[in-house]
Amino acid sequence: MEKENMDEVTNLISRRGIIIPSFEIYGELAGFYDYGPIGFRIKNKIKQFWRDYFIKSLGNLEVETTIVGYEKVYQASGHIKTFTDPILKCTKCGSTYRADKLLEEIFEKEKKLDLAKSVGHMNITELQRLINEYTVVCPKCKGTFSDITPFNLMMKTDIGPTGGITGYLRPETAQGIFVDFPEIYKTYNFKLPIGIGQEGKVFRNEISPRQMLIRMREFSQMELEYFFNPKNLDKLVINNIEIDETLFDKKLNMLTREDQEKGAEASKISIADAIKNNIIPNKLFAYLLYKESIFLEKLGIDSQIIRYRQLEPDELPHYSKGNIDLEIIINGKYEEVAGNAYRTDFDLKSHSNLSGKEISVLDNNEKITPHVIEVSFGLDRLFWSIITNSIYKDEKRSWGITILSDIIQPYKYSVYPLQKDEKLIKKAIEIYNHLNGEGFEVLYNSSGSIGKRYAKSDEMGIGKSITIDYQTLEDETVTVRDIMDGIQERVKIDEITK
Ligand code: ATP
Ligand code: GLY
Repeated sequence: MEKENMDEVTNLISRRGIIIPSFEIYGELAGFYDYGPIGFRIKNKIKQFWRDYFIKSLGNLEVETTIVGYEKVYQASGHIKTFTDPILKCTKCGSTYRADKLLEEIFEKEKKLDLAKSVGHMNITELQRLINEYTVVCPKCKGTFSDITPFNLMMKTDIGPTGGITGYLRPETAQGIFVDFPEIYKTYNFKLPIGIGQEGKVFRNEISPRQMLIRMREFSQMELEYFFNPKNLDKLVINNIEIDETLFDKKLNMLTREDQEKGAEASKISIADAIKNNIIPNKLFAYLLYKESIFLEKLGIDSQIIRYRQLEPDELPHYSKGNIDLEIIINGKYEEVAGNAYRTDFDLKSHSNLSGKEISVLDNNEKITPHVIEVSFGLDRLFWSIITNSIYKDEKRSWGITILSDIIQPYKYSVYPLQKDEKLIKKAIEIYNHLNGEGFEVLYNSSGSIGKRYAKSDEMGIGKSITIDYQTLEDETVTVRDIMDGIQERVKIDEITK
C-alpha cells in the first residue's frame, strides 16, 4: 500500500470529523482545533500510552497544576522577558507575520535554500536587514511593514473582579511542576533521580498559526521533568533498577551541529558514541532518548521518518545547556514533535531566588538543587505526525485506509448486521454487547450499505469489521474483515477475539 498525499489526508480527516476547526459555524479562527469522536479517542490513547510508558513503568509521579499562572512564576522562569517571536505588521492592512517564518517561505520559494535555513538563527537586527535588502512587502496587500518588534507569546488575563492582578495562561506545563517541587518532595520524600510529569493544555499567542495541528494557539503538552544529581550519574538507577548500558548501543538517526554546519544529512549514530562526542549531554538524557525512540516504535512510527536534531547554541532556550529535538517528517518536511532539554537547575534556582524559599533535596547526605532533563511532547503534533503518516491508498479500495498501531486504534472492532432485518439486528446487538462486556472497544453501525460501512471503518482506523449475516443465525459464525488486506474470514463467534 502507498501513502496518501496530504490533500487526501486532510480530506479524510475532515470527512470523518477526526479534527474540526473550532467555532466553524461562526467562521474559522486560526490556530484553534477540536477533536471529533474518532480523533478524541486516538488522542486519548496516545496520552494514556505516554502515561503508562513514561510515568507508570518508570515509577514516576504525575501532577495536575493550574492553567492560569501567577505573574511571578513567569517572571522567574524568564518567559515574560524572553518568550518572544519577531513580529512584522503591515502598515496598510494591519496583517501580522512572524518575520523569520515569512522570510523562510519567501527564500524557499525563490530556491535560496541557504538563506531559508539561516533565518531561524537570526536576531531582530539581522532579520530587519533582510527585510530591507529584499524589499519584502505584505503578501496580502503589498503594503510596507513597520519595523520588526519582539512579540510575547503568552496570553495575559486579569485575575479577580477588580483586575490589578495579572495572570498568564501557561505556555508550558513545566513551571507548575517546578513551583510544586518543594511540596511534592516534602510529602513523597523520594530519592533522585525522579521524574514528575504533567499532561495538559497550554496556550501560545502564535503570530502565524499554520498547518492545522502543527502551530496552534491552544494545544496540549505531555511533559516529563526528570530531577537528578549531576554528580551522581556514574551508575544510572531508575525505579530501583540499574540501567544496563548496552542499551546505548542502539543507533539513532541524528543530525548533529557539525552536520548542520556542513550542510550534511542526518546519520545513524549509537547513543554511546553520541555521549562520548558530547552530542548528548549525559547518561540520563541518553536513557530518556532511548526510551523515547522505543515509545515512537510502539506507536507505530516508522524510524525512517524520524531524526534527532542537536540544536545549535543560538537556538537554545534561555534555560538550556543542550537540546535535542525529536523531528518527524510531516508532509515532506521535518517538524519538531518533542523537545528534549537539559534545563540544569535554572528553574528551581530562579523560583527559589524570587520567592525567597529554599528549594533543595538531600542526596547522599548532601543538600543540592537538583538538575532537570525535560522530555516535552506536543500531544497534538505527535497525533498529527501519526495520523498524517498512517493514511494509505489501495488499488482495490476507493477510499482511504488508516493503519494505526493496536495501542491507539479508536475501536478494535466494528459490528454490522448485513441488512436491516430485525433478526440480524438483534444478533448483531447481542454480539456487540458481548464484546463490549468483555472490555473491547466496539462500534455498532447499521446504517448505509455494507460497502460504505467498510469504507467508514477503514477510514476511521478500526482494526476488524464483524458482519452478521443469515449464516450467523444458523451456525453462530460471522465474517471478520481485517483492515490490512480487506479480506473476510468466516469465524466462530466465540473465536472472534482469539
Ligand atoms: P517551534 O520551534 O516549532 O515553535 P518550540 O521550540 O516553540 O516549537 P517547545 O517550546 O520546545 O516548542 O515546545 C515543546 C513541544 O510543544 C514542541 O516540541 C511541540 O511538539 C509542541 N508545540 C510547541 N508549539 C506548538 C504549537 N504552537 N502548536 C502545537 N504544538 C506546539
Ligand atoms: N517545556 C518546554 C517548552 O514548552 O518550551
